[in-house]
This record gives sequence, C-alpha cells and structure tokens, in this order.
Amino acid sequence: MPSPSDAAHARNTVDAQPWWRSAVVYQIYPRSFADSDGDGIGDLRGIFSRLDYLAALGVDVIWLSPIYPSPQDDNGYDISDYRGIEPTFGTQDDFDELLAGVHQRGMKLVMDLVVNHTSDEHPWFVESRSAADNPKRDWYWWRQGRDGMAPGTPGAEPTNWESFFSGSTWQFDESSNEYYLHLFSVKQPDLNWENPAVRAAVYEMMRWWLDRGVDGFRMDVINMISKDTDLPDGSTLQGGLYGDGSASYLCGPRIHEFLQEMHEAVFSGRPDVLLTVGEMPGVTVEDAVLFTDPKRREVDMVFQFEHVSLDSGPGGKWDIKPLRLLDLKASLGRWQAGLAETGWNSLYWDNHDQPRAVSRFGDDGEFRVQSAKLLASVLHLHRGTPYVYQGEELGMTNVPFAGPADFRDIESVNHFAVATAAGDDPDAVLAALRVRSRDNARTPMQWDGGSAAGFSTGTPWIAVNPNYPEINAAAQIDDPDSVLAHYRAVIELRHTDPVVANGDFTMLLPNDDRVYAFTRNWQGSTLLVLGNFSGEQAAAPVPDESAWAKAELVLGNYPPEAAQDDPNVIVLRPWESRIYRRTG
Ligand code: NOJ
Repeated sequence: MPSPSDAAHARNTVDAQPWWRSAVVYQIYPRSFADSDGDGIGDLRGIFSRLDYLAALGVDVIWLSPIYPSPQDDNGYDISDYRGIEPTFGTQDDFDELLAGVHQRGMKLVMDLVVNHTSDEHPWFVESRSAADNPKRDWYWWRQGRDGMAPGTPGAEPTNWESFFSGSTWQFDESSNEYYLHLFSVKQPDLNWENPAVRAAVYEMMRWWLDRGVDGFRMDVINMISKDTDLPDGSTLQGGLYGDGSASYLCGPRIHEFLQEMHEAVFSGRPDVLLTVGEMPGVTVEDAVLFTDPKRREVDMVFQFEHVSLDSGPGGKWDIKPLRLLDLKASLGRWQAGLAETGWNSLYWDNHDQPRAVSRFGDDGEFRVQSAKLLASVLHLHRGTPYVYQGEELGMTNVPFAGPADFRDIESVNHFAVATAAGDDPDAVLAALRVRSRDNARTPMQWDGGSAAGFSTGTPWIAVNPNYPEINAAAQIDDPDSVLAHYRAVIELRHTDPVVANGDFTMLLPNDDRVYAFTRNWQGSTLLVLGNFSGEQAAAPVPDESAWAKAELVLGNYPPEAAQDDPNVIVLRPWESRIYRRTG
C-alpha cells in the first residue's frame, strides 16, 4: 500500500514549497456534518462514511472543529478534556479509524486547538476555582473587584470589557470573592499563559496528538493568549455599558514569544508535513507578515478577519451595512501585496462562525449557482491556501429562521436576550440574526433530498435549511454543471497548474465596482481571473483585452458563449466568472 505521503503526492502533481501552497483545506463542523447513529448530532463515524466524497472533491486536508469532551456550551469550543473524544461524537477507536481512513485516501487531518480558554468543567479550572491558594489558581485570570466597590455588584468587575458573547468578561465567584476572566462564555475561562506551567501542559498535549498521527492544528483565537497584565479598561462606545478590551488581548505583548516557544517545543525536529494556521481576529497585514515569516518559526498562515468585517458598521457584527465590492478588492488586494514576499495567506469566504458565502458575497436567489461558482473561482485563484467550509461546495445558503426559538448558538441566543432586554426592537434584532448568526453555517449538511437532508435518521439538533430538496450533494454529484463540479475543477486546477500555487498576484481594475479582476503569473504562464459581482452585464476592460478575449478559457461558470459581436472585448454576463490562460 502506498504511504500517505505517496498518495497525497499522486493527487497533487504541482511542485510547490511548502506543500500546503498547492493544498486545499476542507472544514468539517462535526455536529452538523453526518450523523451515523440517529441521535440528531453528527459524529465521527458519520464523517468516516463521507470520506470518499471528500476525496472525490479533491481536498488535501480536513480540519475538524473540536471533537473533544465538552459541555457543548459553545458547541465544543469549551473543552473539558484535551485528550479525549466527546462521547456524542464517538470513541477513541472511532477517531483512530477516521484518522487512518483520511490517511489512506491521501488526505491529512488537522485538529482544532482551543487553548485560549478551557471549559469551566475542565479539571484544571475545577481545581483552580476550588480555593484561592490552590496550586492551579494562577492557571487562570483571577482578580479582585474594582477598588471601593462591593464585589459582585454591577460595575465592580475588574475591567469594563465586554465578552464576545454579551455581558461582562468577568464572572464573580462568591466562594472566593474574586472574579475570573472569560473573553467568551461564562463557561470558557481564559487560561493564564503568563504561567509557564500552563504553556508546558499545552505543548505536551499538542505533542501527544502529533505523536498519535494528526497532521497539524488550526489554533482558535490564538492571538488572544497574551494579555496586557495590567488589564486596563477599554474605551466605551457612546451609550454602551461595556468597554472594548481588545487592545489588551489582541496580539498582546508576548504573543510572538509564546508562538515561537510553542513552535520550538512542539514542531521543531518534526518533518515538514504538518500544517499550522492561527485564527487571529483583528490581525493586521504587518502582524501577519511576522506571524507567518517562515524564518521566525511561528505559524504557517493566519485567518485574518478584515474582509469579513467590511459589511459591519461601528456597532460591530450586528450593525450590518452593505458590502462594497471596491472595499473587498482593496482589502484582499492589500493582503495579497502585503504577504507577496514574506509569509502566506489563508483564503476563506466562510466558516462555522460566518454566514454562508453565497448569501453574503454572492446572490443566493436568481444567480445562486453562478455566483457560488464565481466565488470559488475568485477565492481559489488568489495566492494563498483556500479553505472550503462544509456545504459551501454545494452553494448552501443562509437560513430563513422564523423566530428566536430557531437559534441554538450561544452568541445569537445571548445577543437576542440582551439586546431586547435593553429595549431594541425584537424584529430588528431578529433581522440582523438572520443575516449574521453563526447558525446560518451550522444547519445540517445537505446530502440528499430525503428526510433531514440525509444528515440523520433522527431529528437534527438544529433544523435543516428548508431548501434542501433543491440544494443537496446527491443532486450535484453527477451533474457537470453543478457548483460541486465547479469546486472540483478549481481544486484540481491548483493541483495541476503551478501558476495557482506559486504565481505572483496583480490586481486589475481596482476602481471597477462590478468586476473583480486579477492576473497570476509564473514562469511565463499567466492566468487572468474575472468575476462580475453584479446581476447585470459588465464590461471587463483589462489591459491587453483583445488578446485575452481570444485566449484559452480554462474555466467559466456559463455555457460557452456564442461568438460575441466584437471578438476583441470581454463582456461578462450576470455573476459570470472566467479564468483565462496565456503562455509565453
Ligand atoms: C473562535 C471559534 O471559531 C468560535 O466558534 C468560538 O466560539 C470562539 N473562538 C471561542 O472558542
């Protein structure tokens, strides 16, 4: 039998250094992917049963959102045992079989590493909370209340910071009269990375997973692990109850030191077959160069958030404003330029925390199929490693949630409660949730037109999107014009044309508010990528247009066009995308 690396090589013929430049990653959200035992919750055996689907799609790496034991307050991002498997998802044997199945098919498996915080049910925190003089007390951030205020009363929290999931970031603990820090839910206390014993325990756990055969880590909010130990108050928005503490915990003072230490302790001396990607809200291009410069030995690539913040107003993610294509091009273009020489981009439209790509960046109505294909072509042809979120390859859409009871996500549920209690119009809050809730991405994967979309024989933990009879994998697998077929084609292009992995990037038509246009060039071969982000025809007056108009069309999202009136110009139909090639 060929070794996993032989098999991977057979899938991917492009010579790119490092290997992940020509790789595509597929993200699985285990709760919602495939349920093998009918309890309505996805599981490891369900994933195993779909590995051939993923291999046929052509992806190189699977990133699994957390599968560890967890009270599931934040769907597994609250971990109570870093070395176990959540029983709802399966057993250790199921995991070993899954890992072997992934490797046999020439793919790799990357785990989610959630070490900014644990669950409050993790034994470390249980100990830490048990007494102020417990040896693990300092593994978390415990602080007294504000001077001169009675502990536990409103406003007495050590800082004014607001949690990502609403309310204060501090939870009062009556038994010790102190507060602990939780940037996310009350059940997700932040680990204190200032303490070397915490760091050593995390690194040991990471080595344990690598020794077991996993191929790397996606590191959850990893740029939050270093905090300003003075813990100053943050600035408040006018009328706001809480302050923004992010200046104290995004890319804090010791972040590079911690990541370099982690690299040395966990990855050094291991073969270059692993993948590390750091999730980093608020990271700038300049920061990212430092994080991903191979010489600095920190992480391979980062998830930045700029392009998924362009449609938010000053009030944050629920303050929704229209997305302007010019802003999107300017932002992604800056990231391409900024990491052109040093470092590397990760490329994504969506994931388990974001709305569905086609609903946000495309048109999920009349032009759903065309715009989903366009988004694939445009994203995957950037320089960087693309990530596909489950169902994106089918053109799955946002969900028509009827009311507050349809939501499961802690962020959405808390936001609705807090905003309406503060007097916001419930209909307006609901309208924003429909657009932005993370639950849009978390409804079950749509496998077929049968009961529960083929996800489960039971009742899914969150309702299936009602459009599943039309949008599902079974309907697309043998259809050469499907969104799925288009994803296969762009993934294959990365594997076979070295320009995609290695080429430089030049943005064209930066001031055109409908057409996204760029070239990629490598060793005398150039690809031109065009995408019309509008529902009307749009001219694409790129430099050298007439030569491009006659060039080889590598991949489009419309049937080949009947001869145009003028063969020297390029006119794109609604949401049309084209990839052209010229050599020499
Ligand atoms: C980022 C994860 O992607 C998200 O789902 C989670 O809620 C937070 N980090 C907290 O772990």
